[in-house]
Amino acid sequence: MRRTSILALAALGLVSASEDVRHAQVLIIGGGITGISLSRALQAQNITDFVLIEARDQLGGRAYTETLHSSTGDVVVEKGCNWIQGPGKEPILEMANKWGLKTTPTNYSDSVWFEGMGIEADGQRGRFLNEDEEAEFMSGYDNFLENAPGYSDWRTNQSLVDISVRVATSIMDWIPVNPLQWAYEYWNIDFTFAQTPEESSFANAFSQEAGIENERDDFVIDPRGYKYIFVQEAREIFGQDLDDERLRLETTVRTIDYSAIVNRDGSNTKREGAPEIVVHTDKGVFAAPHVVSTLSVGVLQHQDVQWVPRLPDWKKEAIFTFAMATYQKIFILFDKQFWGDSEFIMYADPDKRGRYAVWQNINAAGYLPQNTTNNVLMVTATGDFGRRNEYLSDAEITEEVMGVLREMYDDVPEPKDIVVPRWTIDPLFRGSYSNWPLGALDQHHANLGQPIGGGHSWLHFSGEATSAEAFGYVQGAWEQGILSAEAITACLGGTCPDATVYEAVTTCEQTETTIKRRGVKSGRGRGRGGSPRRHAVMQTKS
Ligand SMILES: Cc1cc2nc3c(=O)[nH]c(=O)nc-3n(C[C@H](O)[C@H](O)[C@H](O)COP(=O)(O)OP(=O)(O)OC[C@H]3O[C@@H](n4cnc5c(N)ncnc54)[C@H](O)[C@@H]3O)c2cc1C
Ligand SMILES: *[C@@H]1O[C@H](CO)[C@@H](O)[C@H](O)[C@H]1NC(C)=O
Ligand SMILES: *[C@@H]1O[C@H](CO)[C@@H](O)[C@H](O)[C@H]1NC(C)=O
Ligand SMILES: *[C@@H]1O[C@H](CO)[C@@H](O)[C@H](O)[C@H]1NC(C)=O
Ligand SMILES: *[C@@H]1O[C@H](CO)[C@@H](O)[C@H](O)[C@H]1NC(C)=O
Repeated sequence: MRRTSILALAALGLVSASEDVRHAQVLIIGGGITGISLSRALQAQNITDFVLIEARDQLGGRAYTETLHSSTGDVVVEKGCNWIQGPGKEPILEMANKWGLKTTPTNYSDSVWFEGMGIEADGQRGRFLNEDEEAEFMSGYDNFLENAPGYSDWRTNQSLVDISVRVATSIMDWIPVNPLQWAYEYWNIDFTFAQTPEESSFANAFSQEAGIENERDDFVIDPRGYKYIFVQEAREIFGQDLDDERLRLETTVRTIDYSAIVNRDGSNTKREGAPEIVVHTDKGVFAAPHVVSTLSVGVLQHQDVQWVPRLPDWKKEAIFTFAMATYQKIFILFDKQFWGDSEFIMYADPDKRGRYAVWQNINAAGYLPQNTTNNVLMVTATGDFGRRNEYLSDAEITEEVMGVLREMYDDVPEPKDIVVPRWTIDPLFRGSYSNWPLGALDQHHANLGQPIGGGHSWLHFSGEATSAEAFGYVQGAWEQGILSAEAITACLGGTCPDATVYEAVTTCEQTETTIKRRGVKSGRGRGRGGSPRRHAVMQTKS
């Protein structure tokens, strides 16, 4: 550990004279999946002089377990990521196999549908539909799903502007008019992107490439949690007990001062040597020529961390253009299973589209053991409704979800416990995951991940949202950690890659459009699992 010249820094007003500074080559902000991946990738390059700073008392970030308490044994559930899926397949699947993570494949066709009476039910009850009735309300949307990738492909090919998923469905004559149609659409769009068809970008939700079969999506059902595999990977770097001095848990970053590496007007500079970026935390001061933010785009949007100088407008435009969505997974524990064996139970609410629409049976075959006293239902709330839920108490949420369950089933017992995640009001996350909203251009997305600096000192931006292939997914986070390590390794080796920043994002003139293919999936009936997300972006080179 190099400890130097506190007095010199103090003279510059950067630290108080009483503070000690921990210098390193690289500082990693955030111990989520990206931060862990980055630590491993640096160490693999023999770059060991780094410090990872994490506000929580544990690693994993949005791989985050909670416990439902029961008198006959607790049940661990995933408050954050739960599926190994789609774009997340290879590296994450390999890791899951390596560490023996317990998962079960999700069958999105295994669903029953309930036509509900909604908030104003007043004692009346709706009913479960038969298969013919299901097929009827699904057919129009299935038709859209089948043709959407081709239409998206064609639009991209013609260099047409992006439109919302809603405009696309409407052009293609899917006009949902009843609660069942709303619920089915919700399951396919909102349950994946955590935003509405009005908000989501069509080009980024549906790719050009049709015909690739939906691969298996695995639901993590391991009592050690999804995070287990990432923590195990971290132990190989920070020791079995995670007691390496380079890992600083329970340390919250307050200010990132990068004034030493930019010109007075904030523009990039190439100063002599490797001036340091100074990171102020509640547990002391850290400084390094390379600092990597893995903070979520939601945290960046809320200015929970202060930047000195303020971030440039091109960076802020990118940060505020991208979306941080709300995806709330509520888990409820009962001592008996009063619901059937289907994996999904869909509730179509006539008053509010998407109100407690998707229920998942965590005692379906392959999930938790059946016929025990631990029986769990998961219900998902997204978007504005999910955000509104975060301000309700557990008791208020319990009352609402019990109302829906009592409409669907007879003899519903009192729940034993409930887990209500509140991602969006949490200053360490400010939402669940990123989504590509209508209006965000490729240049915005590129700017989100572009570093600031010059010469041998850089402020890097990483994390799930900066992935072009798999933003919003576990895989995206893991891959971005590796990419950031590559950039830093090159820099420390003397050949920093030049950052391409779009100082001004202008009306895009699509002179040469290339289609960038991303993780492609298809198949019918999907949620966070088999998503319809077939990515493609218009790449303009001009
Ligand atoms: C509800 C939900 C469901 C999801 N479902 C899936 C799924 O099924 N499949 C899938 O592939 N993906 C899913 N995801 C997305 C996936 O979890 C994320 O893409 C991934 O975990 C992001 O990792 P990250 O390292 O980029 O960010 P994070 O995990 O957010 O890591 C950033 C870290 O920074 C820390 N931090 C924040 N502020 C500070 C500060 N001031 N000082 C110090 N540390 C700070 C945070 O505590 C956090 O640990 C889901 C996410 C959520 C929330
Ligand atoms: C890291 O160091 C070890 C031991 O000196 C060496 O064998 C290995 O090749 C190095 N790896 C890289 C990527 O430089
Ligand atoms: C999925 O569920 C459907 C409906 O219950 C069933 O017909 C099908 O066989 C299931 N698929 C698998 C792979 O279990
Ligand atoms: C895209 O455009 C090319 C050239 O105009 C054409 O050959 C191709 O068939 C088009 N593809 C689609 C899907 O429209
Ligand atoms: C659960 O118990 C019921 C009633 O005893 C029985 O019919 C059913 O086969 C059991 N299911 C499992 C998976 O053991």
